[in-house]
Amino acid sequence: MEFLVLPGALYFVTLFLLLKLTFSWWVTPIQKYHKLKRCGFGGPTPSFPLGNIQEMKKKNSVNSSLGSSNVTHDIHSTVFPYFSRWQNSHGKVFIYWLGTEPFLYIADPEFLKKMSTEVMAKKWGKPKVFRNDRESMFGKGLVMAEGNEWVRHRHVIAPAFSPLNLKAMRNMMIESTKQMIDRWVTKINSGNSEIDVEDEVIATAGQIIARTSFGMNDENARQVFEKLRALQMILFKTTRYVGVPYGKCFNVKKTLEAKKLGKEIDNLLLSVISTRNKSNKGKDQQDLLGSLMQENHQVDGKKLTTREIIDECKTFFFGGHETTALAISWTLFLLAMHEDWQTQLRDEIREVVGDSELDINVLAGLKKMKWVMNEVLRLYPPAPNVQRQAREDIQVDNLTVPNGTNMWIDVVGMHHDPSLWGNDVNEFRPERFMDDANGGCYHKMGYLPFGFGGRMCVGRNLTFMEYKIVLTLLLSKFSFKLSPSYQHSPSIILSFRPAHGLPLIVQPL
Ligand code: HEM
Repeated sequence: MEFLVLPGALYFVTLFLLLKLTFSWWVTPIQKYHKLKRCGFGGPTPSFPLGNIQEMKKKNSVNSSLGSSNVTHDIHSTVFPYFSRWQNSHGKVFIYWLGTEPFLYIADPEFLKKMSTEVMAKKWGKPKVFRNDRESMFGKGLVMAEGNEWVRHRHVIAPAFSPLNLKAMRNMMIESTKQMIDRWVTKINSGNSEIDVEDEVIATAGQIIARTSFGMNDENARQVFEKLRALQMILFKTTRYVGVPYGKCFNVKKTLEAKKLGKEIDNLLLSVISTRNKSNKGKDQQDLLGSLMQENHQVDGKKLTTREIIDECKTFFFGGHETTALAISWTLFLLAMHEDWQTQLRDEIREVVGDSELDINVLAGLKKMKWVMNEVLRLYPPAPNVQRQAREDIQVDNLTVPNGTNMWIDVVGMHHDPSLWGNDVNEFRPERFMDDANGGCYHKMGYLPFGFGGRMCVGRNLTFMEYKIVLTLLLSKFSFKLSPSYQHSPSIILSFRPAHGLPLIVQPL
């Protein structure tokens, strides 16, 4: 009798699956499309199933790679040609589609201000498509957490960046930078004064975060660092179809490779945590991991599980070294182009630091260095966008942003917008930050290198300290010039980085 029942059951299962697919791929996106139109949002017309991805992948007709004598900081239209084009036809707030997922593009700070006054930090979501896509990189760490889970994690993590903890990290930052300087001196003495500064600074920042945050030995640190780098290349350098139904299947090999690397990184971090648990001393160590493992850092009686600690370690490892390293690298690039600013910073270091120790109070006196950092983060923000997902309907004047809408806040777009900064928007002018922490931007929310609201970057004080220590040591030892082999091609590989490295001519002073 069974063979009579089976075809019927199969028929219903197949019908059910087909209906489900038709709904999730076709009917729901069409409903969303019409809803967003009714809510008042325009934008480029999407096509099924790629949305606007085809247009985003089109190469720019302008050569986006410029030689060293031809550098321009007017980069928004070369790095994001599609956003630039769509801004011309649809303004600074519009909808575009990644596959069947709509994204609200925002480059209007006034719209952002109105929207964020409506929503508390814990009510913001992070786009589900990205949470799934970047699972092997961030897991459920703070960057991706939402709601009460985000509150719990943020409560445990924020104290790890207290001045006392940062103080304990200072010596290791100095030590790692001095090792890099020794390598450079050896290289220069052997007759090679061209150094790929980005490569070197990223490796050093990786070592700093591994030592200062997890007390990790250099070999383990190197492995985690290399695997994270490989993971990042797989996730962001290959053509991928985030938001397209079953987009991962277009590149099964890469998807599996990313999963495998993610697992290997988890295991390395797990071994570091287990060693600390066994020694029982680890919990008292005053670094990031020690802080996460402490019993007293609990919210509602719940401390972080080992799985959660691993995800936070990955988040810090990644968010903590790459962004800071890129801020330092872009600074060396801009200082190489503006030697007068190298001289000004060297004079300031001599006056403020002199023979003193590089402690937090002394570093706070490096005011010009802070203006330079702010200006670098404006022109080349290592985090080029901020993402959100609405978890309820949000009213902005006469527009409604429906529950579930993904958002893409174009930080690079706002930082390069002449209507927010004036005609010198694409010039390197650190003095614009002299009397104004917002650099004279006409709108308070037009300058967002560390994000906004309650979800603003939790690690920024660590960055300020590392940035000032590394630059003080480097500028006291070397001068920098742009190498003729440098090709200016800033591009997005999750962060905002020089696509062909950053060769500089480095000379001992
Ligand atoms: C130049 C350096 C850095 C830049 C440009 C940067 C930028 C950002 C941005 C734009 C956000 C998103 C904020 C938002 O969603 O509104 C963020 C969040 C975050 N950053 Fe950073 N960051 C830097 C350094 C660091 C460091 C050193 C660490 C840790 C060691 C770190 C850890 C985090 C974490 C955990 C979050 C998530 C915060 C939350 O959602 O509550 N970042 N960062």
